[in-house]
Amino acid sequence: MSLDFSRRLFLSLSVLLGAGSLALLGRGLLRYFSDSGAPEPPARFPVGTVPELRALKNPRKYHQGVWLVRDEGGWYALLNRCTHLGCQPALDPQARLLVCPCHGSRFDLQGRAVKGPALRPLARPALYLGPREEVWVDTKKEADPAFRLRL
Ligand code: FES
Repeated sequence: MSLDFSRRLFLSLSVLLGAGSLALLGRGLLRYFSDSGAPEPPARFPVGTVPELRALKNPRKYHQGVWLVRDEGGWYALLNRCTHLGCQPALDPQARLLVCPCHGSRFDLQGRAVKGPALRPLARPALYLGPREEVWVDTKKEADPAFRLRL
């Protein structure tokens, strides 16, 4: 009789502990997937005025994770997110390459992958002239690789 009671008590406690564990796990997963805690960076933001950009010679990175690059045709933007697994490449000014610190992918300043494992080019967010002679980036819109903003 007491053996039966102990077994029933043990099973009941096991079910309760299992259900509690599942509830905690579910709550943690829900919180993890619903809110990362970090605020979303803005999708559209100014990157400088026309005179400021005219004075720049080298590619320039902004806090929002965008490179501004100028070639003979004009200005364009590159999203600083490696197309392999999303790390942030850094500029090697001597080689004029963006080098990913995670697995070594390299991108030229056109954004083309010149060394893997990344195979796809860096994304090109839209770049446009806004009010008051400000240049803006919109990371929600993609620019054609041939696009250049002439200032
Ligand atoms: S994330 Fe850039 S090479 Fe892997």
